[in-house]
Amino acid sequence: MLDAAAHLKAGNLVAFPTETVYGLGADASNSEAVSRIYSVKGRPNDHPLIVHIASIERLGDWARDVPEYAIALARFFWPGPMTLILKRSELAGDFITGGQDSVGVRVPDHVVALALLEAFERSGGKGVAGPSANRFGHVSPTTAAAVIEELGDYLAKDDLVLDGGACDVGVESTIIDCTGLAPSVLRPGAISVAMIEKCTGLKTAQSDKGIRVSGALENHYAPIARVLLSETPQPGQGFIAHASIKTPAGVVRLASPNNDDEFAHILYSALREADSKGLSEIVVFQPHGIGIGVAIRDRLMRAAKGR
Ligand code: TXA
Ligand code: MG
Repeated sequence: MLDAAAHLKAGNLVAFPTETVYGLGADASNSEAVSRIYSVKGRPNDHPLIVHIASIERLGDWARDVPEYAIALARFFWPGPMTLILKRSELAGDFITGGQDSVGVRVPDHVVALALLEAFERSGGKGVAGPSANRFGHVSPTTAAAVIEELGDYLAKDDLVLDGGACDVGVESTIIDCTGLAPSVLRPGAISVAMIEKCTGLKTAQSDKGIRVSGALENHYAPIARVLLSETPQPGQGFIAHASIKTPAGVVRLASPNNDDEFAHILYSALREADSKGLSEIVVFQPHGIGIGVAIRDRLMRAAKGR
């Protein structure tokens, strides 16, 4: 892991596993390294990046005036699938925040990610900028093989891809705006509104800020195949639905999750499988749950808008 941390320190990119999806990491205080993230992803460079840190101890480096409720969330859910949007410190440059006055920070819950971040911090690093390791607008990768499939043609020879197996959660972190009087969810994830309200004792606010969240663009998380959400699957189409639902004749079953957690865990690899099989359409019967089911429906709705 020392070696991977040295690669980051030297300004190279290191793709790394987290519990949500794989990230494409760069030294968050090195503007040149960070600019390579944008070119490798093909992402517009006014879209802000999440800074990954090894522990809450580092939060003060990147954020200022952190409200009590945000500290409560960080203490309770980190390491975990939650990103806090906070007022930025001086360290958080425009090349991280997209020129906004806020910064996104997260402590991921994955042994490989934490080992990398700890080694990086021991070598004097402050944090690792890490968007999902996919081309802009495409499905996030949940395996190292999917990272290579997405970015292999764009990475340089000194960039690394760390293999930590399949991501546990499978959809991106919950993003919570903590710049107001109460938390407000900008992107749903495994940490639900009910969990946030229970932890903070506050009612979440409606987000009304014109904050740029690229993951909130209408067409995002989309495979090449068309995603259809309210149709009956026809022969030749891909199909993702709860295990209790039978596969009609001639339909290509891509996944049969038993519950919402499994649904999130397999969703992106099932969408990728449809593309690698050359299917043109995927019918998905959405889960109904109010936990991670909300995040699954959010991503599916955007995937269905197409690329
Ligand atoms: O689970 C995750 O969050 C993964 C793993 C790798 O940590 N990362 C991830 O990063 O999904 P990305 O860049 O693909 O999505 C992060 C979202 C983007 O839509 C970005 O616009 C938003 O977070 N974001 C980052 N900083 C922000 C800020 N200061 N204000 C508002 N949104 C911000
Ligand atoms: Mg992303």
